[in-house]
Amino acid sequence: MDHLVLVDSVRAVPDDGFRKLVMCGRVLLEEETARSFIEMQQAAAGDGIGIRAFSGYRSAAYQKELFIRSVCGYISDGVSRSDAEALTARYLARPGHSEHQTGLACDICRSDSDDADESFSLTKESLWLNDNCFRFGFILRYPRMKEHITGIAYEPWHYRYVGAAHAADIMNNGITLEEYLYYRELTKQLLNN
Ligand code: DAL
Ligand code: ZN
Repeated sequence: MDHLVLVDSVRAVPDDGFRKLVMCGRVLLEEETARSFIEMQQAAAGDGIGIRAFSGYRSAAYQKELFIRSVCGYISDGVSRSDAEALTARYLARPGHSEHQTGLACDICRSDSDDADESFSLTKESLWLNDNCFRFGFILRYPRMKEHITGIAYEPWHYRYVGAAHAADIMNNGITLEEYLYYRELTKQLLNN
C-alpha cells in the first residue's frame, strides 16, 4: 500500500497488506504516520498548542460496528433505514471504505479532550493544524464545501498522512486528495503524449 492510496466510497481499502502499525499515544497508526504525528505534536507543543490523536487505525469489524451503531441511533430517532444509512455515511465511511483501516488517518482533538466535533474548527489547535499539518505530511482530508468531491461532510478533526511533498501541494492549493490525484494523472498523460 502506498502513502498516496485513495480510499473513498468508491475505492475500497486495498488488500495488498498493511504497513506496520505502532502505538501512538492511545491509538495505532502506520509506522511513518505515527513518527510524523509525534513530530507534529512536539512542534505544536513548542508553539503552546496541545493536540492528541483520538482515533487511528480501525479494523473492518470496528468500522462496521461504528457504522451500525450510528444507523441504529438514527433509526431509534424515527429516521427510515435508508435515510439513516445516508446520514451516517456523511461522517462515517462504510466498512471496507475507511481510511482509518489503512492506519494513515487520524482524528485529532485538543489534548485536554477525548473527541472533536465541528466546533473544533474554531479552536487555536485547529487553526494551527490547518497552517502547519503539511510540514509533517498531513492533509485535512475532508475540507469544508468539498463534500460533493470527497463524499464526506466537513470533518475538521480528520487528518490523513500522505508525505510532506504531496501534503504541501494539496494544502497550499486548497484541493482534496481526489483532485490532486486526478491532476497528477492528467499531467502524466499530457507529458506522455
Ligand atoms: N470519518 C471518516 C470518513 C471515516 O469513517 O473513515
Ligand atoms: Zn477520521
